[in-house]
Amino acid sequence: MAHLQASQLFSVQDRVVVITGGGSGLGRTMARTLSTNGASKIFVLGRREDALHETVSQSESSGVVIPVPCDVTSKESLEAAYQTIAAQTSHVDLLVANSGTMGTQMRPPGPKADGSNPTLSEVRDTLFSIPMEDFSSVLNVNVVGAYYTVLAFLPLLEAANKRRPAPERDVLTPPSAQVVITSSIAGFIRLVPFSYAYNLSKAATTHLVKMLSTTLAPYQIRVNGITPGMYHSEMADPLYANGGVQGLGISEGSFAKESIPATRGGGEQDIAGLIVWMASASGGYLNGSIMVTDGGRLGVVPSVY
Ligand SMILES: NC(=O)c1ccc[n+]([C@@H]2O[C@H](COP(=O)([O-])OP(=O)(O)OC[C@H]3O[C@@H](n4cnc5c(N)ncnc54)[C@H](OP(=O)(O)O)[C@@H]3O)[C@@H](O)[C@H]2O)c1
Repeated sequence: MAHLQASQLFSVQDRVVVITGGGSGLGRTMARTLSTNGASKIFVLGRREDALHETVSQSESSGVVIPVPCDVTSKESLEAAYQTIAAQTSHVDLLVANSGTMGTQMRPPGPKADGSNPTLSEVRDTLFSIPMEDFSSVLNVNVVGAYYTVLAFLPLLEAANKRRPAPERDVLTPPSAQVVITSSIAGFIRLVPFSYAYNLSKAATTHLVKMLSTTLAPYQIRVNGITPGMYHSEMADPLYANGGVQGLGISEGSFAKESIPATRGGGEQDIAGLIVWMASASGGYLNGSIMVTDGGRLGVVPSVY
């Protein structure tokens, strides 16, 4: 029964991992989690070197987490990061394309104090006044950046597959190489709690998971997605503050049931457990899957303000 024990099922021993957006929030938690559970190398990418070094210093196993400055909106920067990493590892088992941005607030005005809707010209004025560049810069990081990140690392992912042992009858072969893309439940929601650009970008990111999992299927590179709800991070902090939630918001009662049925935000353990499972042998049958981790929020997000 050894193969059914949790230590076997969820082992991420010796995995080589690349995480974009590894200098903060969910990416940092994933890096710290995988390093404390035996991954051999974790390359964390992002623009701010000090943030990447902070992830290194917060990780338990020394020398495992390696900072690599990178802007995912630049092919040159991605190629340079790829070369830096290729010089330090023969392969990558798991690529987490996690970098993202919320951008500026981009939502129509809500109902007036008397409950009436804003006029159509008020809706137009609010939305049309936002520069197109604000819109496209969100798509550029969340969609274009994720897409080119995956393309950049394909050779190292393929190299991981070449290291797999030959199949043995009735023995589970170790999982094939995998890409995990961090999308958002915002991509499923028609209400615009914060930004048209963000929601649309995440709908596209989720579709990117599906498209890439099809394109890469012949090469046995699996592509899965994570769609978080509310997790406290640099990006989410203003949303927590606006909602009057103090701190991490992970204790029950932090949020109203009508907003998140679990009545709390996502905690480190929630995302840690998910990435360990996805990266482990028992996650090896996932392909083209979208993992919703939101405490039930998607089921109750209201359709009106
Ligand atoms: N927190 C939530 O509730 C939540 C919910 C749904 C989805 N998500 C998604 O989760 C992912 C991680 O976000 P987070 O919540 O952990 O927020 P975060 O702490 O703000 O992390 C975003 C990360 O993306 C990196 N990044 C932004 N632009 C980049 C660029 N051009 N090149 C490289 N890296 C870039 C940032 O690093 P630098 O600034 O140093 O480049 C930062 O580390 C995002 O894709 C986000 O959309 C989060």
